[in-house]
Amino acid sequence: MSNEFQHNSDQLIIFDTTLRDGEQSPGASMTKDEKVRIAKALEKMRVDVIEAGFPIASPGDFESVKAVASVIKDSTVCGLARALEKDISRAGEALKPAASSRIHTFIATSPIHMKMKLRMQPDDVLAQAVDAVKMARGFTDNVEFSPEDAGRSELDFLCRIIEAVIDAGATTINIPDTVGYNIPHQFGELIRQLIERIPNSDRAVFSVHCHNDLGLAVGNSLAAVLNGARQVECTINGLGERAGNAALEEVVMAVRTRQDVFSCDTRLDTTQIVPCSKLVSGITGFPVQPNKAIVGANAFAHESGIHQDGILKSRETYEIMRAQDVGWSDNRMVLGKHSGRNAFRSRLQELNIELSSEQELNEAFSRFKDLADKKHEIFDEDLRALVADTSWAIENEHFKLISLKVCSETGETPNAQLVLEIGGEEVSASATGGGPVDASFRAIESVVNSDTQLQLYSVNNITSGTDAQGEVTVRLEKGGRIVSGQGADTDIVIASANAYINALNKLEKTVDREHPQLGDV
Ligand code: KIV
Ligand code: ZN
Repeated sequence: MSNEFQHNSDQLIIFDTTLRDGEQSPGASMTKDEKVRIAKALEKMRVDVIEAGFPIASPGDFESVKAVASVIKDSTVCGLARALEKDISRAGEALKPAASSRIHTFIATSPIHMKMKLRMQPDDVLAQAVDAVKMARGFTDNVEFSPEDAGRSELDFLCRIIEAVIDAGATTINIPDTVGYNIPHQFGELIRQLIERIPNSDRAVFSVHCHNDLGLAVGNSLAAVLNGARQVECTINGLGERAGNAALEEVVMAVRTRQDVFSCDTRLDTTQIVPCSKLVSGITGFPVQPNKAIVGANAFAHESGIHQDGILKSRETYEIMRAQDVGWSDNRMVLGKHSGRNAFRSRLQELNIELSSEQELNEAFSRFKDLADKKHEIFDEDLRALVADTSWAIENEHFKLISLKVCSETGETPNAQLVLEIGGEEVSASATGGGPVDASFRAIESVVNSDTQLQLYSVNNITSGTDAQGEVTVRLEKGGRIVSGQGADTDIVIASANAYINALNKLEKTVDREHPQLGDV
């Protein structure tokens, strides 16, 4: 069990909010099963606190937090709640099954938020914060309080409200730079001042939660750690509202690599970083840019001759971290057409990929056999995509691709003919289009009539070579709701049709939910 509550000052607590703030990125919504998969990967990485969601937002969010709370044993599971009785009791209810739970309650404290959003006086905000913390303590003794938009709040008011909520029982004080406005030296100074000026600051862990609007989320978080913060809130791949949150992998590796600068470290197993990054990217359909620190495909690639020469003579000439330490594995051929079930199962185990049932393993193995018929060499990356493909499948899918035939010929208009299963019934359709993918999407739409807008279509090859699998992401928008669908296949037209259908299925499943920060207080 994580011991983050009884805090020791040389431990930096990692609070992951991929499933809550990360999910607030338009298009990043996840199903309950997907959240549980990510939570298990975070637990395996030894993340201290997992913010699993905002239980009052919708029945689906409530069930997701409850499901995560039921399966996670080695990390604390946290639920977000505005400083409102109904939010706090809903969070308390969702967290009941948790081995270790935390309620994270918040209310805005900046002049602009109090005046324009809450239409409340500062003293009333303070009283509501105190009541909320007391109420949350009725459900758990692990309570976090955030003065939302602290980065633009007045220092004196922050000191006053934080002192009062610590007296009321808050054990973690999180300072959010909600709009990503702060600059590292100034944000570090804010944390130092708060810890110095608040008389009971030694009774709580100080935490930070930085947004990346100016590209400074990680810099601000690290400046805060240098000034006494001992919890950082972050997300895998920096996912999150607008420009995102501080990237977990960057914060963790900066602290680990520069132990000469930081007087604390995390307890994370960093070899889980890349697998976790790929899992989140696969599930959300948010690709990782190739030059992204730590988890980008080029983060450890050396293109220039001078660099390659240096690396061969001594790795440290151009590398400050080892690729293996963050979970990059050699892209070597691991399995082929003659590999059996046992070899398949044990390679998945070596990759720390857990399948929840024998049936899931059987499905994945049968997909592996199909793939091995089409593709000579199967790499670790292919296996990861293949398993992700099994997990993309949504329970009781409404739409299913049965068959697809596409004609693409020089001088002719591409034509797609397909058979879809819709709610258990097979329907045929055909359409022409500007290209084979366009024709396939039009054929699907001719029978589904989804009334959606295509916001994004992207294809990435999973490994190199022309026989590589293409991983396709499709983002659809309908009435303000945005979903991403994924598909992977050696045939990118089939991958595209599957990605489109996956997005349509997600749209069927998602419902409108309340946004925590547009709140009714
Ligand atoms: O950015 C923010 O202020 C938040 C709070 C709910 C902590 O996400
Ligand atoms: Zn946030």
